[in-house]
Amino acid sequence: MRAPVEHRLEDYQSPAFAIDDVHLLFQLDPVATRVTSTLAMRRQRAEEPLQLNLENLVVESVALDGIELGESAWRIEDGRLIIEDVPERFTLRIRNRINPKENTALEGLYLSSGNFCTQCEAEGFRRITPFLDRPDVLATYTVRIEADKSAYPVLLSNGNLIEQGDLPDGQHYALWHDPWKKPCYLFALVAGDLQFIEDHYTTAGERDVTLRIYVEPHNIDRCEFAMQALKRAMRWDEERFGLSYDLDVFNIVAVDDFNMGAMENKSLNIFNSKYILARPETATDTDYEGIESVVAHEYFHNWTGNRVTCRDWFQLTLKEGLTVFRDQEFTADMLLPSIKRIQDVIHLRRYQFPEDAGPMAHPIQPKSYIKMDNFYTMTVYEKGAEVVRIYQTLLGREGFRKGMDLYFQRHDGQAVTVDDFRQAMADANGVDLSSMRAWYDQPGTPHVKVRRHYDADSQRLTLDLTQSLPKVGEGFTPLPIPIRLGLLDASGNPLPLVVGGEELGMEYVHLFDTRHQQLVLEQVPEGAVPALLRDFSAPVILETDLDDAEWALLAAHDPDDFLRWDALNTLALKALMEAVTAIERGEAPAWPQTYLDAVGVRLQAALEDPAWHALALTLPDEVTLGEQFETIAVEAIHQARKALQSELAQRFEVQWASIYDTLSAELDQPYTFNAEQYGKRSLRTLALHYLVQTGKAKWIEQALYHYQHANNMTDRFGALRALTGVEHAARKTALDDFYYRFRNDPLVIDKWFALQAGSDHPHTLEHVRMLTRHPDFTYTNPNRVRSLLGVFGQNRAAFHRADGSGYVFLADEILKVDKLNPQIAARLLSPFTQWRRFDTARQALMKAQLERILQVPSLSSNSYEIVEKSLT
Ligand code: ARG
Ligand code: ZN
Repeated sequence: MRAPVEHRLEDYQSPAFAIDDVHLLFQLDPVATRVTSTLAMRRQRAEEPLQLNLENLVVESVALDGIELGESAWRIEDGRLIIEDVPERFTLRIRNRINPKENTALEGLYLSSGNFCTQCEAEGFRRITPFLDRPDVLATYTVRIEADKSAYPVLLSNGNLIEQGDLPDGQHYALWHDPWKKPCYLFALVAGDLQFIEDHYTTAGERDVTLRIYVEPHNIDRCEFAMQALKRAMRWDEERFGLSYDLDVFNIVAVDDFNMGAMENKSLNIFNSKYILARPETATDTDYEGIESVVAHEYFHNWTGNRVTCRDWFQLTLKEGLTVFRDQEFTADMLLPSIKRIQDVIHLRRYQFPEDAGPMAHPIQPKSYIKMDNFYTMTVYEKGAEVVRIYQTLLGREGFRKGMDLYFQRHDGQAVTVDDFRQAMADANGVDLSSMRAWYDQPGTPHVKVRRHYDADSQRLTLDLTQSLPKVGEGFTPLPIPIRLGLLDASGNPLPLVVGGEELGMEYVHLFDTRHQQLVLEQVPEGAVPALLRDFSAPVILETDLDDAEWALLAAHDPDDFLRWDALNTLALKALMEAVTAIERGEAPAWPQTYLDAVGVRLQAALEDPAWHALALTLPDEVTLGEQFETIAVEAIHQARKALQSELAQRFEVQWASIYDTLSAELDQPYTFNAEQYGKRSLRTLALHYLVQTGKAKWIEQALYHYQHANNMTDRFGALRALTGVEHAARKTALDDFYYRFRNDPLVIDKWFALQAGSDHPHTLEHVRMLTRHPDFTYTNPNRVRSLLGVFGQNRAAFHRADGSGYVFLADEILKVDKLNPQIAARLLSPFTQWRRFDTARQALMKAQLERILQVPSLSSNSYEIVEKSLT
């Protein structure tokens, strides 16, 4: 077996050499691109040989200070180009060859729809030319690109265009210079037949910035929303953080083949086209929201990531947690703050909590890795953002801003650590934040247990708080957990908080930072209910002793939008958990009246706030429900959720119908992506889903009508989704129509694949197997692979079929993908990593597939790391 190298944080050493200046010459050719790299280098540690990283490239020559080195003066060993003897300062010139066309891993320089593009984060630059491929080596770059002019009329790289012109033989060139020092992971190059839309933004400092979005010619009419989102992001970052753009050009390029969402290369962001292209007829509200947040995210990286970057990849959350936090705050301001917060919490619980409880759990600052690509995780990104949010909760918005200002003042132009960020936050506010370190060092979701003791005579309510970190166990270090809390009286009116004789107002943040604590609330009348963790003030699992009636009180009256949502969600979860237990005992589920009444109350008020009610009336998903149990009972969970859905559908059919009709009348207008329409469309689609769940032919026909007459993708796709779950001729009618209508539109066809892979139709596995042979399916496009195989892996009922056929199928498919694109294969493995959570029969079946995968001799180190860590 291979011996993969583990990289460890504790082994960090500063680089033995600096690279001050980089000149690159690209002579582009699909199968044989020549790269000439000229590096101005400086020794920083005595005696060490020079070692440059390289991967998948052919070195043709090496010259030192203009003198060609003989083959004996350099060697290639273990992915390194080694030169034993180099002086204090020198210029190194390397010529090498690469094959972009064969690059199906989509790392380094590759082709997408025949156009050249790059992806260098985390360690892709070493596939372009030998280099010190690490984020703490910062240099200025000058890049000359030469290519055939008719095939590649557009030639782009980072920074400013210095010069361009024609060359003999139909070739042309462009020369780019980026004045800002950057690590090589922020390098980018694009060459192709592209068109652009252009706009301008004037910064607070009166700099006129030319903004361009480049796409393939047929997509030129789908870029306007992304452009406007970019301008909103630029404005927002100036207003909220005083951060302005620092060059005269900002370019975005959208490509179809991309492993992730997008990449923040300096002044040349490269995007998965999914996060740029939108027209109302082809993109849903969710797509629009995703575009706005990813465009903003990549733009925000210009300061949090590029101007201040990471010392090493263990610090990834320094830029990602912070930048996700920033894009969340931006989207909250663009949309509705409370809606965005609820969405983010749903997402965190659905994807990050299971990751943090499973075998791949890691602290937001991981301590070791085999392939860094495997650590671009929900934990580093989303939990990282929650930890950044804790600083803001503790310091307030102004204090947080002071910390950000000091962080940039101290570290602009540097490659730093998460400790530098924490220190800036602390120093700017004159506080000690050293206990925050515990959030960076320990994996797992903390549990906070709350038990109440009420003393009527003294009118005191004692909250007995206990924190634990099951993933770490007894020896865990306590975490600083901010608990935002309020208090309601028995009729739901807010009460002031009094602690230690002091009036603290109607809400305050209690910092719970030890294993165990008692918080005594004074002047508390009988029957008062504490409202804990408002706005989800920390990424924890809260276990309280509140009963259903108390949750219902919070659901009806708490002033915090998040907590009201969470209270109703808790009631739904509790009802579903009881139903799961009943079903497992062979009994029919009985639905608690408190919950049904609470839903009834919400339905009465739904039209007053459609966006919030659309979230509140959506049942918890199967994964989140499964997380509540030690062993995940696949069938019982699926049945319980379906049963509750049809209960709510039938019981409230009249209310759903009336909501549907009212909103249909209100939405009879041209599509615009805005908070108001978004909310109405979400609630109307939800109503339609429930109506279809009644099983009545008239509602299925209504859904088909809704599908056929929709004037935008949100409505059309919403209706189609409602129909894919039913056994009715309308299902096929709509699916076929959708395919023929959009067959030339890859992003929409992705939805068509995803819908079938995620369906709870009993034959989903057979459908998905057939779809792998569909002419539009391809293993080389990550979006398509994710749409079919990624979504299938998340489909509890289909993937976890009791006979194990879902496991065998996905394992076979992952092995095919692994040969082409290891990063994507490793991602597809994630549902297998949860194997210990299922019943013993399924455990054995899943484990057998993991063991089979591990035996494959050519398995990539990406997949190896995931499989190996899941089995141990
Ligand atoms: N920095 C990019 C972003 O968050 C993601 C790059 C991911 N690269 C990778 N190899 N996983 O915007
Ligand atoms: Zn990012």
